Amino acid sequence: MKTKRISNAMETALNEQMNREAYQAQVYLAYASWAEVNGFPGISDFLYGHMEEERKHMFKFLKYINDRGGHARVTAIDAPPSDPKDMGDCLRKALEHEIDNSQKIDEIVHLAHEERDWATFNFGQWFVKEQIEEETLVNDLLDKYNLATGHADGHGQIYEFDRDAASSPQEATLPREEEF
Ligand SMILES: [Fe+2]
Ligand SMILES: [Fe+2]
Repeated sequence: MKTKRISNAMETALNEQMNREAYQAQVYLAYASWAEVNGFPGISDFLYGHMEEERKHMFKFLKYINDRGGHARVTAIDAPPSDPKDMGDCLRKALEHEIDNSQKIDEIVHLAHEERDWATFNFGQWFVKEQIEEETLVNDLLDKYNLATGHADGHGQIYEFDRDAASSPQEATLPREEEF
């Protein structure tokens, strides 16, 4: 058994976040299935791929909690939200979920700072950056969808939007990381 190097409050917060990441995976899985049966195979592929990302996040929390002498406790996962009304609604809700998740990550980083738990503070920074990328990714898809639906040739544009979404990266490159 490892020496416990995180506070009880931090262990609870990290466990909640681990299970929240599992919930995020459920959300993407449900939306991916909805997109697949509603004629958006490209977006569906993207969403299935993103579900995998959320599962990796969940596992990252699990390993971190246990590595720091805590106990990651897997719980039941809440049911995903009901089906979106349309693709715009699907992407807007995905974005809302990401923003909500970013705020929860911020709370963990805040707690780490208060507790002077620099290991968790450092661990949390990876997720702060990850959340910027994920919000950017979904925002970009939403912008492209809005452009496609506002176009005179709406159907053709939406077809192309969906086809391109299949090859959308799961990671966004942020300008400050690009090499000049
Ligand atoms: Fe995540
Ligand atoms: Fe996410």
